Amino acid sequence: MKLCMIGTGYVGLVSGVCFADLGNEVICVDKDKNKIDKLKKSIIPIYEPGLDELVKKNYKAGRLKFSTNLVESVQKSKIIFICVGTPTLRNKYEADLSQVFSAAKEISKNINSFKIIINKSTVPVMTGDLVEKIMSKNVKKSLFTIVSNPEFLREGDAIRDFIYPDRIVIGTSDRKANKLLRNLYLPLISKGAKYISTSRRAAELIKYASNAFLATKITFINELANLCEKLKINVEDVSIGMGTDKRIGGRFLRAGPAYGGSCFPKDTRAIVDTANKSKVSLSVIKTVINSNDNRSGILLKRVKKILNNKIKNKNITFLGVTFKANTDDMRESACLKMIPYLNKKGAKIRYYDPTGEKKEFIKFKNVQYKNTIKDACELSDLVIVHTEWNEFKLIDLKKIIKKKSFSVYDMRNIYSPEKMKKQNIKYFGVGR
Ligand code: UGA
Repeated sequence: MKLCMIGTGYVGLVSGVCFADLGNEVICVDKDKNKIDKLKKSIIPIYEPGLDELVKKNYKAGRLKFSTNLVESVQKSKIIFICVGTPTLRNKYEADLSQVFSAAKEISKNINSFKIIINKSTVPVMTGDLVEKIMSKNVKKSLFTIVSNPEFLREGDAIRDFIYPDRIVIGTSDRKANKLLRNLYLPLISKGAKYISTSRRAAELIKYASNAFLATKITFINELANLCEKLKINVEDVSIGMGTDKRIGGRFLRAGPAYGGSCFPKDTRAIVDTANKSKVSLSVIKTVINSNDNRSGILLKRVKKILNNKIKNKNITFLGVTFKANTDDMRESACLKMIPYLNKKGAKIRYYDPTGEKKEFIKFKNVQYKNTIKDACELSDLVIVHTEWNEFKLIDLKKIIKKKSFSVYDMRNIYSPEKMKKQNIKYFGVGR
């Protein structure tokens, strides 16, 4: 099939490349010429394991094309995916839909034959209705249909998530479009993915509801972790004990330093905004947002306690600064609150991240990036494991750190407390 992906951000690029790998002809379009030029040379703008090989392979095979020409790309394709960003509007809860609407306007001015237009961007309920209205201003209703097909990819696992999704959600009342999209996804359905056909509005809500529910699970276990610390219970035991109940499920019950990233914080806020506009209170999700916002304060209190309230001039190392492992994404990473706070209190901070130095910390005088784990840790009074990268799991801190006495605050519970005790390391985990 002939597809066009508008927007080569996370969702657009990964889905476009994976659709090409399934044998479709895909054009990935972006306004950013620099990005498109780089993609043509297989230089990938994001860190995503396996993506570069897949881009190279499909670009070489001619199934995958990159372009800045939206008009031509739309005209050549039957199925058009809108995959542009929908960030939170500044200081508000509302999602900024300007990029979705401007893509719809451009498509509407350039339609030459029947098109299936699919919202893959995460958009509030009824955005499909609004896109339909925009399209109708310039195009006859018989020339297009608007479908919602939300994406459930996780950064760092995006290719696997695309190829082996739990479900594919298609929101449309158009039977022809539904049939065509079922065919497009057939290779994944035949591998076990559930194909869920719903109304367009339900599909839009499913995406927000899923992210808000996962954020709720994480926040639930994070709050329990606080209680576990007080009662000397290991939160990992609680996660396993709860999670083995099939009604609950064990995933997304890992306590940590607050959920972050480009999706959960943004989408929990946006669903609350949608509900407020309908005069419905989503009190559980509001509480989740609040609890998550306050989490770094709770972890910082523990840092103070570990350092006996003496932060000034202490050498603190952060291992990993991205919001989770296997990504270079810093958006809403918990350490964006912690590092500036500790820096203000006079700590000397060194950090190491497998994806390199971060522009977010360049302005801080006493926050230094180090190229190796050893350089970041050797003078440390306190090592904070902020992100759960595999390469941190087997390091021998006793060998690396030159100080006689140092502490480890493992915010991801990647180390065994027993092993740490055997090595005489002052060890603190989350919820244990
Ligand atoms: C999330 C969803 O998992 C995807 O299904 C969805 O498609 C995506 O948002 C999106 O809306 O585009 P992502 O933001 O890539 O994916 O990351 P997750 O793996 O979900 O992690 C989100 C945050 O929760 C991270 O900060 C992570 O460290 C944290 N987390 C996750 C925990 O603290 N504990 C857990 O058990 C799981």
